[in-house]
Formats: sequence, structure tokens, C-alpha cells
Amino acid sequence: MTAPRHIPTSSKRGVTRRQLLRTAPAAALLALASPGARAAAIRPRRKIPYGAAVALDDLRGDPRLGAALAGTCSQIVPVSELKWSELRPAPGQFAFEKADALAGFAADNGLAMRGHTLVWYAALPDWTKEIDSEAAAERALREHIETVVSRYRGRIRSWDVVNEVIPDEAHQPTDRRPSLWSRYLGERYIPLAFRIAAEADPKAQLVLNDYDIEFGDPRCRRKRAAFRHLIRQLQDADVPIHAVGLQCHLHGEMAVDRAGLESFVAELHGNGLKCLVTELDVMDQHLPAPVQRRDALVAAQVGELLAAVTAPGPLDALLTWGISDRYSWIPYAAPRADKRPNRPLPLDREFQRKPFMDVIDQFTGREA
Ligand code: G3I
Repeated sequence: MTAPRHIPTSSKRGVTRRQLLRTAPAAALLALASPGARAAAIRPRRKIPYGAAVALDDLRGDPRLGAALAGTCSQIVPVSELKWSELRPAPGQFAFEKADALAGFAADNGLAMRGHTLVWYAALPDWTKEIDSEAAAERALREHIETVVSRYRGRIRSWDVVNEVIPDEAHQPTDRRPSLWSRYLGERYIPLAFRIAAEADPKAQLVLNDYDIEFGDPRCRRKRAAFRHLIRQLQDADVPIHAVGLQCHLHGEMAVDRAGLESFVAELHGNGLKCLVTELDVMDQHLPAPVQRRDALVAAQVGELLAAVTAPGPLDALLTWGISDRYSWIPYAAPRADKRPNRPLPLDREFQRKPFMDVIDQFTGREA
């Protein structure tokens, strides 16, 4: 990723008017120059909300990013600023500055903000290694969820409560990923987390989120079966789960399992659950190099995915994991052997639209 050219340390909202005036397109300028209604008025109306993940440092470093989000999206989600790694410098301590700055940017621009994520096996600060008993684990989990969810009550209306519970190799539908939480609490940490979140904000949408559910190869099918088993388990136990998040980090060279995914989502709807696409992007490291061809393949695969997940009914929200190829995790996780830049997202490195964005417009019912 290119280093931000300028990080305004004093700008609480991240993007200053002067920065925007230098580079942003006119419509986006309006969006950021005046909060709320004005931004909403110039954004395209969509039947399904579209949003994108953003990291505060990137937002502060590049005014084009804030302009693109404000002009295209109706919601954002922090990439890392709500994870334990960023929020929890020490036991009992919370550092909300970065998450608050993103919440401020969202509020100023009439954007909703999703919460990602309350409980995850990863991105835990080192001090959590000192947690060494069931009581300590439950205490830490409860303190974290109560504090964070209460702070953003009424501002964050949808939370990824538990993230990535299903292991990459789920041999049995009952397999769950080992974590700090499962070590001390067993599987009960999952319903516990949902119940604490529901108490802290009874109106919040509580989401179970996972990846590699989208394909038809045996490994993904097994993962989907375990995910389905977990969802049913939670619902059977009257756990307050409201929606399922499909991350959709797509493997560009693999075929989406249209029929399997469609029936999975239909079953969710049938059981009263909403479905969100929470982290869509495309790993293009195995796709052909020519840009036009690669962009077309990426867009076609996104089209396959969205056709499958919207067939049973509308998505509750569609979010991509970043909006511009300039700011993505894919170049780190899935670089191309030919060293050409990855093209995983709806806008290119210069914030120009790609066919991926046309597909998003099509499936979100963009009206203007
Ligand atoms: O923000 C700090 C910055 O202050 C510091 O200077 C810099 C130095 O390393 O680190 C920055 O934090 C990094 C953070 O991303 C910034 O967004 C962390 O080191 C880095 O580990 C972190 O990686 C993120 C990863 O999750 C772990 O939290 C990736 O950006 C993010 O894309 C990735 O997102 C995950 C979802 O949460 C769950 N699903 C999969 C997805 C992709 O892996």
C-alpha cells in the first residue's frame, strides 16, 4: 500500500475542507463540506445499503478516500479501529479515539457505521495472554462487550458480534475454531457474547460473520455445513442472533456455488435471519494479467455471488472491504507472482470506477 502523503494529526474528522478542495470531485466536495442531509442528497439512492471498510490512517492521508466514501456509500465499517488490538491498550483500559474519529466522519457525512468486531480469535493484544481462567475470560469478555456496545448505542446499529468461528478445515459440522475464548469458556462464549451485546443495546442488529462459505469445493461446503450447524444451534437455544454476515473475500479463480449459496441464504430468511455481505473483495492473484480482462472476470464473479445471495430476497446491506484498490489487504495477503498491482475493489488506485462498481449498482438497485 502506498504510504499516505499527509497525515493531519490535528484533524479530528480526518478530511479537511482544504484537502478536499485540492483534489476531490465536486459532488464529493459537497458531501464532505456539509454534513448529513446534503451528503445524502447527492449520493445515489439505493434499495440495498452499500458501504465500505475504511482505516482511519488511510482516511486521514488521502482526501480522495473520504470523498469516495461520502459520495458513494451510505455506511462505513472500521477496518481495525474497533478490534481489541486497537481498542484495548491494557487490561481495563479502552482507547476510543480512533473509532470515535471514524464515527465522527460517518456522522458528519450522514453515513451509518457498522461495528466490527466484538469477539474474534485474532487481533488480540498481548496482555490478553494473561487471561488464565474461566472467570477471568468471562469477566474480560463481558467488560469489553458491555463497554463498547453501550458507548455506541444508537450510533452503531449493526455489530459483528462473533467473527470467524468456523475453522478453515471443518471436518465435522460441530467443529469450531480454537481461540482464547474457547480455551477458557468452551463454546458457550458464543451465545454469551450475543446475550451480553443484546443487553447492552437491545435495538442493535447482532450478526454472526464468517468467510469461505461461498464456493462449491469440498472444503467450503464443509465450512458452510458447520456454519449452518452453528446458526441452527444458536437459534434453537433462543440466542439473540439477528443476521448472518457472509464476508465474501472471493477467490477469483473459483466458481461461486450459486445453487448451494442460494439455498443457504433462503434457509436463513426462512428462519427469520437477515443476510449481509460484509467484506466483499476479490483475490485476483491467479487471474490473467490484462487489466480489462481481469476487471471483467472480477465483475462477473461478483455478479454470480450477488445473484445467488439476492435470489431469496434482498440483502440487508452490502459492504466491500475497502473501496479503492489503493487501500486493501489483498496486496499483502495475495500478491501476484507477476508483481502487477492487485485489482480487488470497485474503484481503481486513482478512484476511477471499475466494472465491479457497475455490478454493485445493479444489485443494490441504484436509482440516481
Ligand atoms: O493502525 C496501525 C497503525 O497505527 C500502525 O502504525 C501500523 C503498523 O503496523 O499498524 C496498523 O494496524 C494494522 C491494521 O491492519 C490497520 O488497518 C495492523 O498492523 C494489521 O495487522 C491490521 O491488519 C488487518 C487484519 O484484519 C487484522 O486486524 C487488516 O488491515 C484487515 O484488512 C483485516 O481484516 C480482516 C477482517 O477483520 C476479518 N475478515 C478478514 C479480513 C482480512 O484479513
